[in-house]
Amino acid sequence: MLKLLPIALSAGLLIPSLVGGLLTASQDDAEQETSALEESMGTLKRGQRGLKKLIAEPAENQAKLMEMLISMEAASLIAMTAKPPEPKDLSETDLALWHVGYRQTLTNLLGTILTMEDATLRTDAKALAAAYKELGKTKKAGHEEYQQD
Ligand code: HEM
Repeated sequence: MLKLLPIALSAGLLIPSLVGGLLTASQDDAEQETSALEESMGTLKRGQRGLKKLIAEPAENQAKLMEMLISMEAASLIAMTAKPPEPKDLSETDLALWHVGYRQTLTNLLGTILTMEDATLRTDAKALAAAYKELGKTKKAGHEEYQQD
């Protein structure tokens, strides 16, 4: 995973600035950012479902797994820089902390995705299964804490 981190971090700088640039140029900022977030969540959903069928046989499914994981990597970076619908009634400081927590949770998700890429390249089915579980836990935590009703 560590070997992949510099690549992810440079993508992390590039993709958000591209996406950010596109979105801030628009007059319907909030609306478009929400749809970028929804789109990225849709990609994560397809990825999570697709991975389930593939992780038991990483050698056989290596190319498909990598393709899926890379799409999820990009989606998590886009979600990280999107502006999620905010909770009401938080103080300015608490709202700033809420946003930090949101990004940190997505950083955790990205870390798990990179771990899965690493495990795929090593064709390690056991590591893939463990990271897949972690992915589900981070999703649950992210939705409980950051998805509004
Ligand atoms: C594998 C991981 C994940 C999957 C498969 C996933 C999937 C989804 C799906 C299907 C939606 C509904 C999208 C729609 O309304 O069209 C959604 C919404 C949302 N998710 Fe995730 N999610 C994941 C991880 C996370 C994480 C880690 C966070 C936060 C740190 C997060 C935050 C949100 C938020 C804020 C929304 C609401 C978006 C809105 O109201 O516009 N998700 N997610």
